[in-house]
Amino acid sequence: MKRIYEKDTDVELRLLYSGKRIAAEVRRLAQEISSDYTGQELLLVVVLKGAFFFAADLARCINLPLTIDFVKLSSYRGTETTGKVMITKDLETATAGKHVLVVEDIVDTGLSLAFLLENLRNKGPKSLKVCTLIDKRERRRVEVAADYVGIVCERGFLVGYGLDLDESRRELPAIYEVVNSPSGGLNDSPM
Ligand code: IMP
Ligand code: MG
Repeated sequence: MKRIYEKDTDVELRLLYSGKRIAAEVRRLAQEISSDYTGQELLLVVVLKGAFFFAADLARCINLPLTIDFVKLSSYRGTETTGKVMITKDLETATAGKHVLVVEDIVDTGLSLAFLLENLRNKGPKSLKVCTLIDKRERRRVEVAADYVGIVCERGFLVGYGLDLDESRRELPAIYEVVNSPSGGLNDSPM
C-alpha cells in the first residue's frame, strides 16, 4: 500500500477490511437483495458522498431492474446533543408506490438514517429498507436498524472505499481505521 504512505505523512491508518473482503460482502448482500425482491423493480437511494463506491459495486451485482438516485445529507453536530440533519440534495425520482432501498456507507449515531427514513416514509413508498456496508454500533443514539448489513464494527473512525477523513482518502480501495490524526476530525463524523 505504497500510496498510503506517500499520502499519509501525518495520519496513521490500520487496515481493517481488504478490498477482497468488501467485494465478498457486496456479493453476499446483492444476492440477498436480489432474492428478496425477485420479480420486483427497485429504486436505490444512494446517500452521498460516502456510499457512492459501495452503491456502484452493489448495483452491478444486483440481479434486478434498478433505478438509482442520490440524496445528500448534512449534519451539524459539534457540541449539540441532538444532532441536526438536513437534506442538501434531494431525490429527483418520485418514490411513491416504489420499492425503495436506501444505500448507506456507514451507520454511526443513526441520526442521519433516522431522519432520511422519516422523510422517505412520508413520500409513500411501497416498501422501504436499508442496506449499509458498515454498521458501527458504539455511538448509536437512535434505534435504527439496517435490513442488510455488510460488516458490523464496534468502534473507530474508518476511511476508504467512500468513507472520508475531512474529505480525503475516499478513494482508498480498502477500509482503514484512523489510528492517529492531527486534524482532530475524528469526533465529528463528517458526512
Ligand atoms: P450518523 O448520522 O452518525 O449515523 O452518521 C452517518 C454518516 O456519518 C455516515 O453516512 C458517514 O458519512 C459519516 N460517518 C460516520 N462514521 C464514520 C466513519 O467512521 N468514517 C467516515 N465517515 C463516517
Ligand atoms: Mg454517509
